[in-house]
Order: sequence, then structure tokens, then C-alpha cells
Amino acid sequence: MARRLIAGNWKMNGLRADGTQLAGDLADRIAAEPLTCDLLICPPFTLLADVADAIDGSGIALGGQDCHGAAKGAFTGSVAAAMLVDLGCSHVIVGHSERRHGLGEDDETVLAKAAAAQAVGLTPIVCVGETAGERDAGSALDVVSRQVRHSVPANSGRLVVAYEPVWAIGTGRVPTSDDIAAVHAEIRAVLRADRPDAAAALILYGGSAKPDNAAEILAIDEVGGLLVGGASLTAADFWAIATSCD
Ligand code: 13P
Repeated sequence: MARRLIAGNWKMNGLRADGTQLAGDLADRIAAEPLTCDLLICPPFTLLADVADAIDGSGIALGGQDCHGAAKGAFTGSVAAAMLVDLGCSHVIVGHSERRHGLGEDDETVLAKAAAAQAVGLTPIVCVGETAGERDAGSALDVVSRQVRHSVPANSGRLVVAYEPVWAIGTGRVPTSDDIAAVHAEIRAVLRADRPDAAAALILYGGSAKPDNAAEILAIDEVGGLLVGGASLTAADFWAIATSCD
């Protein structure tokens, strides 16, 4: 089995001084105590260059939080996948619910972004997840499988999928272990059936992952790691989550 991945999504947080300090703290910790999982941090675009310097040689991977679906062009304010590679990124988050629901991105847009990432050798972390209303209506599995089918590119050698129930993000609420297991099994089944090149892709869980629930979530079948928001902004918390893989 591939090493598990603990990814930190810093979202729109951090100025250069905080970001380099946080990244440097993680680099110091990993130098002193190697991990059994892989570590990835996804700072805001403005911090990527500084953070790349701070983690240079540490083995910590760097990722962007979004990219455009086009290779380049007249897209004011957007960032191309190749620009992320240029700064040392290996991964990029696409289709985060804060963009799907907050900024109206649909599956087609997310698919284009994931394909643009793969075209330049980045691993897209394609986020999927149901809203509270969809879960209450009993359609969580349908929603997630539809999102995977429509936002993961057809030939996907390089891929991570992240299951992030919208209602669990930043709320302190986490689905039951059975519910996480059911969704992850559904995602694995869709990948096996429809995306055989990516059948073994890591499937992360995200949504209120914290030091005190990480080990329990990581023990669930098919959970290949965590996509951590709030708790990735504190080195001690993120590190405690990362060591939960041991
Ligand atoms: P929280 O860990 O803050 O709930 O955020 C999860 C998330 O959205 C990661 O992408």
C-alpha cells in the first residue's frame, strides 16, 4: 500500500513571516523525527516561493490550492498549473467545496483544472463531498459518485481524491466511521470501474480532522490520509495528526 498522505490546506491564511515560520517548524520536526506518512502543505499562492525555500530538502511536498483549467492566457487573477510546477509544487487542490459552493465551480470546471494539472505533471487532489441537505436526503453516495465521475479526468495516472463533506468543514462535526467508510468504498468502486488507471489512488478524508480524532479516522478502511484545514495552521497540531499515522 502507498504511504499515507497528510495534507495541510492553509486556505487564505498567513503572511510571509507566519508562513515561513510554520513551514520551517515542520521541516525541523521532520528532520528530527522521520514520519511513516508523506506530508504536503498547500499555502496561499503568495507564500509558495517562501515556503518552498523553508522546506527545501526536508521531504515535505508543496501544493497549490487551485489552478486554472487553461494552460495560460488572458485570465486575470488566475494561476496556471505550470506556474505551480515552476515554484516547486507537486500537487494542487481542485474542486474544494469553498470553490464549488462559494464560487460556483461545477464538475466541468473542476475536470478542466484536474486535467490541466496532470498535463504538467502535478497530482490533482480532486475534492468531492455532499452538503448537509444532500446527506439528510439520503443522496450522499450518489452526489459523491457523480462528482468523481464528472470531475476526475478519464486517463488519470496521477490522482488523489479527497472526500470532504461540506457540513464537516470547519464545524467540528465529523461523520461516523461507518459513513466515512461507505463513501470511501463508493469512491474506490467508481475509480475501479471507470478510472482503472487511477484505481489505486489515495482517497483522503477532510473535514474537522484534529489531533484527537485523526488516529480513529486513519484506521477506517480506504482512508489513505487526511486533508486538514484549521489544524494545519499550528505546527504542533499538524504534527500530532501526522504522527497519528504511525
Ligand atoms: P477543516 O479541517 O478546518 O474542517 O477544513 C477542512 C478542509 O476544508 C480542508 O481542505
